[in-house]
Amino acid sequence: MKNFSYHNPTRLIFGKGQLEKLREEIPKYGKKVLLVYGSGSIKRNGLYDQVVSIFKEIGVRWYELSGVEPNPKITSVREGVEICKREGIEFLLAVGGGSVIDCTKAIAAGATYDGDPWDIVIKKHRPKDALPLGTVLTLAATGSEMNGSSVITNWETNEKYGWGSPLVYPKFSILDPVHTFTVPREQTVYGIVDIMSHVFEHYFHDAENTPLQDRMCEGLLLTVMETAPKLVKDLHNYEYRETILYCGTMALNGMLSMGFSGDWSTHNIEHAVSAVYDIPHGGGLAILFPSWMEQVLPENPARFRQLAVRVFGVDPSGKTDEEIGHEGIRRLREFWTSIGAPARLTDYGIDGSKLDVLVDRAMRRGEFGVFKKLTAKDVREIYERVL
Ligand code: NZQ
Ligand code: ZN
Repeated sequence: MKNFSYHNPTRLIFGKGQLEKLREEIPKYGKKVLLVYGSGSIKRNGLYDQVVSIFKEIGVRWYELSGVEPNPKITSVREGVEICKREGIEFLLAVGGGSVIDCTKAIAAGATYDGDPWDIVIKKHRPKDALPLGTVLTLAATGSEMNGSSVITNWETNEKYGWGSPLVYPKFSILDPVHTFTVPREQTVYGIVDIMSHVFEHYFHDAENTPLQDRMCEGLLLTVMETAPKLVKDLHNYEYRETILYCGTMALNGMLSMGFSGDWSTHNIEHAVSAVYDIPHGGGLAILFPSWMEQVLPENPARFRQLAVRVFGVDPSGKTDEEIGHEGIRRLREFWTSIGAPARLTDYGIDGSKLDVLVDRAMRRGEFGVFKKLTAKDVREIYERVL
């Protein structure tokens, strides 16, 4: 392991009926609230009415930023920052999935900065302060509800970047599995792929001696793989939703990655595709992760062997580590396809015509990768394999 210091300040409030806790939590931070949400799912499923009725009962004066897009855009962030500055907002409440939460984090940091919030995303400005924020999560996927990261897209320049700050960890996050019942099947699958991908990003790291971390990652993957096929056939099942929701938070709140840095190449490569073609993040990962794995397997076949044997049940007898590793990757692809995830870029109508742009966007912030540092040639091959 490497030396580490771990602190997660988000209060996780989990379970049925926990929305009521808004009554205790919000007054700790202010009375003037900006409510941030997406394109209407919370209005259709009644969550908006529940939140607003609590606001009224506890005397909150609220403003709204609605229409935050999947792959949230810097234009929405700017709009939110303007409301905060104009109205003197004291607290931000994100009600939605990762996109709404990420946008809210960028607004929280942007509201205390005089320049353009895009400066924060491109790391030209390091936030020195942020408004407090809380979340009501409606989709199990990103882990944004319990981390300090945010991913924002600039549609004018076709750039999508992650940034982070300890200042934008949510003060609290309310996770009621019932709020995820209405997530459509396709989006549920994307969330499952994203959760598993976060574990893979951790699993392929650069440290020695991480036996507990390995088994925690493997346990999470096995749990998701046991539950996912049942959930996609029974979307209103409380227990399945509960398990996946909890897995989603645990996969990216820092618990699995103490003592090492994960790889994160595939996220970088996927963000480039989303920035140019606006595809769902989980869909892009389902296509690209197996391809990244094929590309880097020779770097450390023993690591792939461990994953294949312990998680994908590959029988190792009489096979080399490479063969076992490849079999594991094949089974991963098969699993994702079996629950309805895409497998090729062409599934989204993406051909090779903008390959140069994709490679350029992925490489724009320099070489990346911890398990293996990728070159532009590697990145091109990863895309080409799944065209
Ligand atoms: O906009 P609404 O109407 O709310 O609909 C959303 C949206 O269309 C819908 N949805 C959410 N909850 C629902 C629901 N529909 C019905 N019932 C509900 N309960 O789902 C669609 C997708 O929502 P979105 O928030 O975009 O999905 P997700 O949570 O997967 O977030 C994806 C974004 O997070 C970033 C991704 O890059 C992408 O931009 N990520 C953020 C991370 C982080 N902050 O740590 C890490 C991740 O790796 C990821 O990169
Ligand atoms: Zn992700």
